[in-house]
Amino acid sequence: MIILLGGQKGGAGKSTIACNLAGMLTNAGKDVILVDSDSQRSASRWSGERKTEHSDLPKVNSTQQIDMDVDDALVDFDRRFDYVIVDAAGRDSRELATALLVCHIVLMPFRPSSFDILTLPHMVTLIKASRRVNTKLKALAFVNSAPTNTQNIDTLSAREAIGEFSEFITLLNTTIYDRRIYRDSMAEGLTATEMPDKSSSAVAAKIEMEKLLAEILNEAS
Ligand SMILES: Nc1ncnc2c1ncn2[C@@H]1O[C@H](COP(=O)(O)OP(=O)(O)OP(=O)(O)O)[C@@H](O)[C@H]1O
Ligand SMILES: [Mg+2]
Repeated sequence: MIILLGGQKGGAGKSTIACNLAGMLTNAGKDVILVDSDSQRSASRWSGERKTEHSDLPKVNSTQQIDMDVDDALVDFDRRFDYVIVDAAGRDSRELATALLVCHIVLMPFRPSSFDILTLPHMVTLIKASRRVNTKLKALAFVNSAPTNTQNIDTLSAREAIGEFSEFITLLNTTIYDRRIYRDSMAEGLTATEMPDKSSSAVAAKIEMEKLLAEILNEAS
């Protein structure tokens, strides 16, 4: 199963979610490879930090596929691993375009800002083109970095905007909120679920991340 974290907008949370999913699936005993296809190398840094600072925890296999067509390599990894999690660069990259040709799921985080949502039509165009070859490609979207302030209506507006493309993209029920634990866990080489933090926000993060994974796996089956 190849799961691509894709999308056009930089900083939407692709690397954060890729690392969390790869770590959680590894912890669940699955054979996972995290493929870093972004020259910023955030995913590689995360798995490196994990390996050196948390050698007691299950190691997350990772590899870099940068500045190249990635489709053949992903198909090969798919034969050897249960889950191939791909972190692609946030622009119209060659890595994103070629990963879309072979992935089973493209998972797109959107921050609830109009700038992020404005990239939706272009993603839909890319997805439609990819489906001519990759006919079973599933496109999933969710809101990431949602404001925790319950009065804020941005998340609702973003969900409505994504919902307008429901013919092409499935909007997940899970929303990931803007929480410090996501930034801290990325720096530490941990998943949010592994952080020792017991604050109510941290507990909520662990629950929402588990829910996101369950929803993705359910869509995949
Ligand atoms: N839910 C969240 N709550 C708080 N901070 C978050 C959340 N998701 C991501 N971040 C932070 O936002 C920043 C951008 O996230 P990330 O690097 O995952 O985005 P990206 O889509 O991979 O960006 P790029 O396109 O530059 O590769 C990082 O500092 C990350 O720690
Ligand atoms: Mg990134």
